[in-house]
Amino acid sequence: METAVKIQDVRKTFDGKDFVLKGLTLNIPKGSLTAIIGFSGTGKSVLLKHMLGLFQPTSGKVEVLGTDMANLSPDELTKFRCNFGVLFQSAALFDDMTVLENVSFPLIEHRRNLKPDEVKKIAEEKLKMVGLDPKHFHKLPSQISGGMQKRTGLARALALDPEILVYDEPTTGLDPILTEMVDNLILDTHKHKKGTTSIMVSHDLAAAFRIADYVAMLDAGQVLLFGKPEDFYNSEIELVKRFVSKGMKHS
Ligand SMILES: Nc1ncnc2c1ncn2[C@@H]1O[C@H](COP(=O)(O)OP(=O)(O)OP(=O)(O)O)[C@@H](O)[C@H]1O
Ligand SMILES: [Mg+2]
Repeated sequence: METAVKIQDVRKTFDGKDFVLKGLTLNIPKGSLTAIIGFSGTGKSVLLKHMLGLFQPTSGKVEVLGTDMANLSPDELTKFRCNFGVLFQSAALFDDMTVLENVSFPLIEHRRNLKPDEVKKIAEEKLKMVGLDPKHFHKLPSQISGGMQKRTGLARALALDPEILVYDEPTTGLDPILTEMVDNLILDTHKHKKGTTSIMVSHDLAAAFRIADYVAMLDAGQVLLFGKPEDFYNSEIELVKRFVSKGMKHS
């Protein structure tokens, strides 16, 4: 099985004393939808930022698509990040740009050879892919609903046809209906973009187990369990059992 992201014995401290990641090893299979779960403060977001090259490990190695992130210069890193599409909890849209302009932005930044009408065509295509009605394309983010903002954020994440899609708590704070819509959107996008690796940090265990191929549970800066959803239901590890039963209650 090919690996998209290889985290090898990564340790990370911000203050030189306390380690947030404590020898974390994780291989994310290429083409998979992998969910990262775990209690708050266990290092899930810090781990994602290592994958994106936003944090450097104190020790250990982060390899993405066969590239050792430590070998990249700042310029190369910026280019390399085009391999990622990222959607965080807030869609983080530019407030003063229309929906279409938001999705066009990465194309204008990183695909300098594209003509304006080509940019427009690609941006429209991505917005249609995530199910946004063209009548909203020229509205500002404040003029559309939260669900439409998420769709716009996802379309922007897809703009450069990234190899890896990264979601950090994409549904936290959304109502149940919207949560299900976004989860399904993530799953549909994953299926539609064959070969894409999707990595999702989620608090929503029911959703993670429903849509993910693999799940990694972090605890105390390490991977407590990596496996298929059924491996979690069948796990004898006390902390996994507690976490899984707690998650099921919420659903
Ligand atoms: N830039 C930073 N500088 C110093 N400490 C940090 C930094 N970023 C994160 N941390 C610390 O790393 C630890 C793990 O944080 P992280 O955000 O990865 O948790 P998490 O698992 O994503 O939690 P949550 O589920 O609440 O989002 C926390 O103790 C946090 O304070
Ligand atoms: Mg987090």
